Amino acid sequence: MEIKFYSKLNSTNQKAKELAKTGAKAWTIIVAETQKIGRGQQKKFWFSPKGGLYFSIILKPQKISDLEKITLNSAKCVANILKKKFRLNPEIKWPNDVLINNKKIAGILVENVIGKDIKVCICGIGLNTNIKKFPKELKKTATSIMIETKRQINNEQILNTILKELQKKLLNYEFKKRN
Ligand code: BTN
Repeated sequence: MEIKFYSKLNSTNQKAKELAKTGAKAWTIIVAETQKIGRGQQKKFWFSPKGGLYFSIILKPQKISDLEKITLNSAKCVANILKKKFRLNPEIKWPNDVLINNKKIAGILVENVIGKDIKVCICGIGLNTNIKKFPKELKKTATSIMIETKRQINNEQILNTILKELQKKLLNYEFKKRN
């Protein structure tokens, strides 16, 4: 597993796609401190100020078929960690949202890149960790671990925990460590 850190990207999913096309290995992780055009499902925008956790994982499954399986496993991983580490009570809004009291705390965007010589899956996760305040239009629908727990979160630590759990889950089935 290789983790690449960037201070600013347009979108970690976009960067992961570019790197995958130029030969990046499976389980390369792209992390950005902020994203200029973080993207969500249905071309929505993902609010990505400094403080939050934004990353994408390059996966190379044997079969490109089950985007939903990856999405749901990622959502479950994030939800488990919120429960175990922060004693929060998350709910998964199937398949890609993690909510606390009906407010979104994390979102997952899984995309396939399929070309002549390439078959890759990009799993992008946005987790609202140290976000103190949301803009007006998101206030009613979004929350963060900091808002919920009043604690400062160590992004690197939580990233490592998520990656470990996710690797366990995904390697269990068709996601062998293929390069
Ligand atoms: C959603 O809830 O609609 C999915 C949100 C996914 C956001 C993450 S942040 C890291 C990665 N890079 C992106 O541009 N999007 C995903």
